[in-house]
Amino acid sequence: METHVYHLQIVNLLTKLGLSINGKEKLKPQELSRVVGAAKNETPQSRTFIRGIQTVTLIPGDGIGPEISNAVMKIFEAAKAPIRWEERNVTAIRGPGGKWMIPPDAKESMDKNKIGLKGPLKTPIAAGHPSMNLLLRKTFDLYANVRPCVSIEGYQTPYTDVNLVTIRENTEGEYSGIEHVIVDGVVQSIKLITEQASKRIAEYAFEYARNNQRASVTAVHKANIMRMSDGLFLRKCREAAEKYKDVKFTEMYLDTVCLNMVQDPTQFDVLVMPNLYGDILSDLCAGLIGGLGVTPSGNIGANGVAIFESVHGTAPDIAGKDLANPTALLLSAVMMLRHMGLHGHAKKIETACFDTIRDRKVLTKDLGGNSKCSEFTEAICQRMKDMD
Ligand SMILES: NC(=O)c1ccc[n+]([C@@H]2O[C@H](COP(=O)([O-])OP(=O)(O)OC[C@H]3O[C@@H](n4cnc5c(N)ncnc54)[C@H](O)[C@@H]3O)[C@@H](O)[C@H]2O)c1
Repeated sequence: METHVYHLQIVNLLTKLGLSINGKEKLKPQELSRVVGAAKNETPQSRTFIRGIQTVTLIPGDGIGPEISNAVMKIFEAAKAPIRWEERNVTAIRGPGGKWMIPPDAKESMDKNKIGLKGPLKTPIAAGHPSMNLLLRKTFDLYANVRPCVSIEGYQTPYTDVNLVTIRENTEGEYSGIEHVIVDGVVQSIKLITEQASKRIAEYAFEYARNNQRASVTAVHKANIMRMSDGLFLRKCREAAEKYKDVKFTEMYLDTVCLNMVQDPTQFDVLVMPNLYGDILSDLCAGLIGGLGVTPSGNIGANGVAIFESVHGTAPDIAGKDLANPTALLLSAVMMLRHMGLHGHAKKIETACFDTIRDRKVLTKDLGGNSKCSEFTEAICQRMKDMD
């Protein structure tokens, strides 16, 4: 039974990658690597940005999500950012055949607008449906998670001058969801690394470095232990490096990166890595600059789709009390503006936000102040009005 499930999961995953497999055949590991190796390269479809007002899908989310989303909308209005919001709620629903999916109106909105901003979503334990964040990632093939970690002046942490970006492969690795029981008491979890996904994330990292005036890319891996899987990932990074000679390339073991990161994070620039390493290292890096409450994040997908999100949770302990800090969602929205080519508005909002924090007069509790979310929001809006 377990072997059957395992086989089906691989077939589903490969089918998603666009590979043709006879689902009735028994797939042997050597066949898997042969088929994956034959994966066709995806041709990304870039989005055309039209001057003027653009519509963005807004998923306010749960808990503090609606409060911080309101704060972002107010700040965007004060900045006269040319964005129209299309609000959609996402709760998992059962589609045909009992498959979990996001509501059709949310999917249609994202398919049409391509760009989304998302607040936190609660993941009820034992709810019976998969995490909505995972479902969104799968639905829109959000293959790259990008998290810039930049020290915020006026918000003191043990580290200064941190300025790095983690780029995490978001679709496979240890998160392929392929696990099975071999015999009672022995389980196996498959770390799936494909040439196609490794090439895609490696090239994205170099492209990001080049487009964002970043000098170097470090590939983070454990190819000394996982010679085949991480070995393939690393090989694709080396090949991408050959195409981007203007960007310096280094490769480093994950453990060495962790050690060096806590000793001196200023030595790092862009880091690219497989899924699990990225999950852990991106939170570690967020910790260097003050935590998830101030860290923006973007998920880049195939066919021009991108969803920007705050990576903290729904904060149920403070929800509805006007105490939440909207900085992470606001900086994610700033990332979104840059992604859309709206650099002027991005700079204006970012400056107003950082100046407000540096000033230390109006800060939310988590940043060491006593102000409400609405007061912090108003302070940022006022700064932007003063800039006009
Ligand atoms: N990206 C996401 O959607 C996401 C991420 C993590 C957790 N979650 C979900 O959120 C729920 C609660 O998770 P949790 O309690 O482990 O983590 P959490 O991030 O919601 O809260 C941890 C602590 O940080 C505080 N906090 C978080 N964001 C804040 C903000 N913007 N301003 C001020 N304080 C803030 C909270 O008040 C709490 O004390 C769970 O259902 C979990 O599944 C969602």
